[in-house]
Amino acid sequence: MKDRIFYITTPIYYVNAQPHIGHAYTTIVADFLARWHRLAGYDTFFLTGTDEHGEKIAQAAQKNGEEPQAFVDRVSARFREAWEKLCIEYDDFIRTTDERHKKVVQYVLQKVYDAGDIYYGEYEGLYCVGCERFLTEKELVDGRCPDHGTVPERRREGNYFFRMEKYREWLRDYIQANPDFIRPEGYRNEVLSMLSEPVGDLSISRPRQRVPWGIPLPWDEDHVTYVWFDALLNYVSALGYPDGEKYHRFWTHAWHLVGKDILKPHAVFWPTMLKSAGIPLYRHLNVGGFLLGPDGRKMSKSLGNVVDPFALAEKYGPDVVRYYLLRELPYGQDGAVGEPGLVERYNADLANDLGNLLSRTVTMIEKFYSGYIPAPGLSEGPDHELIALAEGLPDRLENLINGLEITEALKEIWKFIGRANKYIDETAPWTLAKDPAKKERLATVIYNLAEALRIISVHISPVMPNTSGEIRRQLGIADEGLFTWESVRKWGRLPAGLKIGGKRIIFPRIENKSASGKEAKAVEQKDTAVNRDESREGLITIDDFAKIDLRVAVVLEAERIEGADKLLKLKVKIGEEERQIVAGIAKHYTPEELVGKKIVVVANLKPAKLRGVESQGMLLAASTKDKLTLVTVENDIEPGAKVK
Ligand code: ME8
Ligand code: MG
Repeated sequence: MKDRIFYITTPIYYVNAQPHIGHAYTTIVADFLARWHRLAGYDTFFLTGTDEHGEKIAQAAQKNGEEPQAFVDRVSARFREAWEKLCIEYDDFIRTTDERHKKVVQYVLQKVYDAGDIYYGEYEGLYCVGCERFLTEKELVDGRCPDHGTVPERRREGNYFFRMEKYREWLRDYIQANPDFIRPEGYRNEVLSMLSEPVGDLSISRPRQRVPWGIPLPWDEDHVTYVWFDALLNYVSALGYPDGEKYHRFWTHAWHLVGKDILKPHAVFWPTMLKSAGIPLYRHLNVGGFLLGPDGRKMSKSLGNVVDPFALAEKYGPDVVRYYLLRELPYGQDGAVGEPGLVERYNADLANDLGNLLSRTVTMIEKFYSGYIPAPGLSEGPDHELIALAEGLPDRLENLINGLEITEALKEIWKFIGRANKYIDETAPWTLAKDPAKKERLATVIYNLAEALRIISVHISPVMPNTSGEIRRQLGIADEGLFTWESVRKWGRLPAGLKIGGKRIIFPRIENKSASGKEAKAVEQKDTAVNRDESREGLITIDDFAKIDLRVAVVLEAERIEGADKLLKLKVKIGEEERQIVAGIAKHYTPEELVGKKIVVVANLKPAKLRGVESQGMLLAASTKDKLTLVTVENDIEPGAKVK
């Protein structure tokens, strides 16, 4: 068996900017992976930190009228506060101004120098301060840096150089022989193409006179270390390279997470530096895509489309932001994010799927068993499918997560949540409860639901640590042994007889505000399949509106639905057609008072099942927190009339 050892790193972020959503995204991915591996029994180490030397930082400090050290202390602390808000549990936070780091940088420089891989020379090239590196002509777009949009400066100065070109072919061969070294594949190909022609040698120093803010070269105090040669070494300095116990334990298991903007330093500079220094290579370079604004454009202050993850975490809770970002875009791809998208995911996956499953289950345990988890009888029918799905989940997740398919892994967990909700519809416990002959069956069904939720609470813990804890609290589970990876491989570990904790709605639905600012409530409709991209824009066109077929309908019949105390089943007539509509209005209308009413319905909505009952449309109602009233027509008009 392979060693279950896992070392995960984020880029160390430049302290010239405040923490933003791009940093948050990469760090959340890292935290998810760290938590998942810890859960799955891996000896795990998670490192993040800040990159604090170089021209860019010195310039930012100066702009602020601060000494560099005071400036970097302040901003670096902001990163640590930010990570606390998102429940990031790192094992170490490295700063390139730490003594432990500076020592290692000087040690490695000396080693590479002694090996004959560093020489002094004159250099002329195009330097981008934003990237803190020389750009090749080929990398420019219209003479500008594609990432920063700035015209790089032509620079000529005496620098020390690292013989990077010497290792180019070796690196190309290594990447070819190890297809999963750089992933996803698109980025691997990009690197192979960079390596198909000379990469040149790497300037690794700056004259101290011009850039004093850096680590002095051990053999020439008039020069400081180039910021990338300094920064990349954080991944080993934090482990106590060269003799640290952590270095020996973790280093060769390293997974680096980076954005595509820093592919070249990690895929070309870093492996050649390691090779020259006689340090083994990292295991994987994982390259993430870029988050775009809700409008699909690059986020930027001037476009006003910057999404603030910390404000979102304050409003919706850190678990929701973590879930949304991890679920929304497949790792490695670019994607648009924003609050409307978050609310949609929240309503669909968290309020409807997960929240409903928990509240339905806890309600039934309270009602049928006075709050004690019942002992199950024999399994039958749909039990087997539910159990098999749960027991297969750990291995399926392990495969997906090892392949960095985090979005797919979350979908797998939600498939199980969906299956458990369907299980309630299939087994109809409210009906079982009325039949004394079905006592044992009811106990089995309720036990299985509680056990499903225990298993779900374990699997969601890497993405939603707080929600996971809240589910266990509601189920009354205190025993840590019921929260291990082993405990979810086998169905039935939950002991009967546990007293559950108090019920609380974990994800109350968020109603969408209409353009007029009034709340027009889409009454408990599952799967409201609105076009995701268009809904993000905020405003819609008249054509968008025309897609919604609103009609006047008359209510012919209305009745309650067993087991669903909020729902009513209506039969309505729209023109010549009769339809069945399920609506969450039972708390506000009796069936009797509805018959004969003329209401407004969405007639072209995809049918959906609510508590197993098909709904062929949706009715309109206006509501506030505790009031709800149906939308009707002022004067009499035939059913089927179009509303526009
Ligand atoms: O490059 N979408 O630091 P940095 C997704 N100090 N991720 C984004 C993003 C976006 N829009 N914007 C930024 C540096 N990121 C160096 C790293 S490592 C030895 C030195 C994330 O503060 C992404 O991970 O510019 C990207 O690579 C990183 O932030 C860059 O952070
Ligand atoms: Mg950057």
